[in-house]
Amino acid sequence: MSDDGDHKLRVSKIRSGTVIDHVPGGQALNVLAILGIDGSKGEEISVGMNVPSDRFARKDIVKVEGRELSQDEVDVLSLIAPDATINIVRDYDVIEKHRVERPDVVEGVLSCPNAGCISTGDEPVSSTFEVFDDAVRCSYCGTIVREEIASLIDT
Ligand code: CTP
Ligand code: ZN
Repeated sequence: MSDDGDHKLRVSKIRSGTVIDHVPGGQALNVLAILGIDGSKGEEISVGMNVPSDRFARKDIVKVEGRELSQDEVDVLSLIAPDATINIVRDYDVIEKHRVERPDVVEGVLSCPNAGCISTGDEPVSSTFEVFDDAVRCSYCGTIVREEIASLIDT
């Protein structure tokens, strides 16, 4: 395996848990928000931000000790980190590695920024967004969000 090379390893290896790699530079804090991690429960987390990468000019990396991610969490991560790699680590070895896949639709995870949208009112309507390569679109009112998708995430 072509690691970054120990001379370039910015963030220590973890023993067991999940490494979310190839996150676009600057998105690591949004990744933590999606995972509901703010450090208050003693979670053991390492974060590298804007570190040099082969694939992007700069990338973020988030390492979560002692925890794997749910499919729902991975689906939401894919919206802000479409090229992320999820690495499952056990006893210091990467035992599983996969790229995130963007679902066609996400339900109940984003809130529509349109205050008049039926999905944001008191109606018992769960938000639904169609996912495109560079945007998401509310299935109820058609509002398209390209940037700042992270700000729509219900946490
Ligand atoms: N990693 C870690 N702790 C471990 C093992 C790996 O934090 N015990 C991290 C590595 O530092 C790397 C990522 O998990 O950021 C993936 O590890 P690996 O597959 O060994 O690296 P690469 O081959 O460089 O990964 P890729 O090809 O996906 O870039
Ligand atoms: Zn809407």
